[in-house]
Amino acid sequence: MPFDYAPAPESRSIVDIKASYGLFIGGEFTDATGGTPFKTISPSSEEVLAEVSEAGPSDVDRAVKAARQAFNGVWSRVGPAERGKYLYRIARIVQERARELAVLESLDNGKPIRESRDVDVPTAAAHFFYYAGWADKLDYAGLGPAPRPLGVAGQIIPWNFPLLMLAWKIAPALATGNTVVLKPAETTPLTALLFAEICQQADLPPGVVNIITGAGDTGQTLVEHPDVDKIAFTGSTDVGKSIQRTIAGTRKRLTLELGGKAANVVFDDAPIDQAVEGIVNGIFFNQGHVCCAGSRLLVQESVAEAVLDRLKRRLSTLRLGDPLDKNTDIGAINSPVQLAKIHELSDAGDAEGAQRWQPQCQLPERGYWYPPTLFTGVSQSHRIAREEIFGPVLSVLTFRTPDEAVAKANNSPYGLSAGVWTEKGSRILWMAQQLRAGVVWANTFNRFDPASPFGGYKESGFGREGGRHGLEAYLAQGNETMGPAKVTAEEPRDG
Ligand code: NAI
Ligand code: MG
Repeated sequence: MPFDYAPAPESRSIVDIKASYGLFIGGEFTDATGGTPFKTISPSSEEVLAEVSEAGPSDVDRAVKAARQAFNGVWSRVGPAERGKYLYRIARIVQERARELAVLESLDNGKPIRESRDVDVPTAAAHFFYYAGWADKLDYAGLGPAPRPLGVAGQIIPWNFPLLMLAWKIAPALATGNTVVLKPAETTPLTALLFAEICQQADLPPGVVNIITGAGDTGQTLVEHPDVDKIAFTGSTDVGKSIQRTIAGTRKRLTLELGGKAANVVFDDAPIDQAVEGIVNGIFFNQGHVCCAGSRLLVQESVAEAVLDRLKRRLSTLRLGDPLDKNTDIGAINSPVQLAKIHELSDAGDAEGAQRWQPQCQLPERGYWYPPTLFTGVSQSHRIAREEIFGPVLSVLTFRTPDEAVAKANNSPYGLSAGVWTEKGSRILWMAQQLRAGVVWANTFNRFDPASPFGGYKESGFGREGGRHGLEAYLAQGNETMGPAKVTAEEPRDG
């Protein structure tokens, strides 16, 4: 049994949540003209946190116009080094306001404060720092001479890493000279709205970043808007496919970062204790609401029993509960809809004959919760081996030879990430070559670095975010006729 710990809640008084929020357009918060306001709640308590505006078609149009005006005007006159300064400034303010952002993220999303404080917020700041450095070095990025911005980017992000996904989208777009209209997910809009305040605090010229809230309809309107040059989307594969259909035949550029069903492959020579930590981090980090989650454990048959024994022992020590408690390992499920999906797929696991195991775990009475769960006896045809559950549920399969591990790992419509656990360097390299996955982690899992590109194969999407590769998605190539000619204006001498 785990130790008893006294509650150690992070204070929520550091963050000032307004009763209601408008849309951030042209550098100001403005009232929505269409749409019905909606509420965002804290999924761990079902408490209503704030009322948020729904951007209707005329609001989306206003936001795109503001972004276009800024792109043609003030932002095109700001030189590359100056753009970099704005990004550095934003990065520093994100660091200064880190505690506020972390508490707000945990309240609105349900993730443990340990994660928002130690992963989401610092990694978001790191992305702004990283792309700030590229702003005046684009000629040396290996993407051809005098690369040009695309124009106005419409960016749609999911609820699992609200601030971090915002950073992945906005930092490279601004570094390359684009302007953006970003729509956060409907269940987690609050850190994006706080980020809007950060843009004001950084004196970012009006219209460079616009933040509009709403659900799928608002996203769809943004995708369809004729004056958007590029769409960047992270979310479900179904919506990604529908976006691709919508913009087919237009000049709009598209990057899609969609779902995954990653294999985490443990060989018999792996350091078992480290591997168990990696398995836990792979699937129980952020309640498994992770596109690159290691949701399929492939373990070599000869060590399967030993790995499962230790894994079960470890799962029994995970603490589930209040996301603001610093000792919490597993927070709340983001929404009742997502909870229903986790139930549906886990029930399918039972029905198809896999064996469910869950540690003793008391669930709080209010809010949305699911205990850490593993299924053994899973076969490749089971729904829990093929479909993205996006919850704290691990499917365990076994293999005998490396070839079998590769065949099973690649037997998926997805190809976002994978993990390999082995003592042998040559095997790591061989596996990395064989696995059809955008990211392959070796003896670790769920590591993110702004310098490293991230993205998928197959139904996990296309395009890369992060690193030098991430610049490409926001730059016009060859004689593509988007954006103005290369900006050569002299740099204003301020700040
Ligand atoms: P979703 O794909 O519906 O939502 C993601 C974003 O897209 C949100 O901002 C949403 O408002 C927007 N959106 C929804 N419909 C749209 C449309 N027709 N046009 C433009 N934008 C639209 O994801 P949802 O429903 O929240 O989650 C469903 C499943 O998707 C999850 O269970 C999980 O399997 C997967 N998912 C994967 C994510 C990833 O990081 N790859 C993130 C979120 C969900
Ligand atoms: Mg919420």
